[in-house]
Amino acid sequence: MTGAVCPGSFDPLTRGHLFVIEQCAQRFSELVVTVVVNPAKQGMFTIDERVELIEQCTAHLPGVRVDRWEGLLVDYLARNDYSTIVKGLRSSVDFEYEVPMAQMNRDLAGIETFFLLTEPQWAHVSSSLVKEVAKLGGDVAPFLPEPVYSAVAAKVGR
Ligand code: PNS
Repeated sequence: MTGAVCPGSFDPLTRGHLFVIEQCAQRFSELVVTVVVNPAKQGMFTIDERVELIEQCTAHLPGVRVDRWEGLLVDYLARNDYSTIVKGLRSSVDFEYEVPMAQMNRDLAGIETFFLLTEPQWAHVSSSLVKEVAKLGGDVAPFLPEPVYSAVAAKVGR
């Protein structure tokens, strides 16, 4: 297979995200992890911080690079000459959320979306839940790559 784009908010990257990225890196000769900016959403991490953390956590993966984008995702793919999106699925809840976007991206620009199941151990892990637990003093170390864990700990004052 050739190149693919793995888009997301990544606020922040979790071990579930990293599992998907690692699996895709083995199967696509080139994988771009693209942090998509949502100007309406104030995250825990700036876009620069998210990009930097993903770069640190994927440095061991040949063929993976990190980018950022604000706007329609299909425009990003067209501009960079990609036609495939890859996304992780944790459960049927993700499926319900992802299918309309995948269909829309196909209608808009003929972009296909490939889905990869996360490992069951990460099925309950989301960036938002991890942030909530961390803010309330819970231990989120098992759910985050080490550089991300340190960054979250610093954000919540630990
Ligand atoms: O990690 P997330 O928040 O589930 O990622 C969702 C994301 C950013 C990939 C999705 O919202 C997206 O593609 N946003 C870019 C704007 C866009 O193209 N919207 C139309 C989608 S059909």
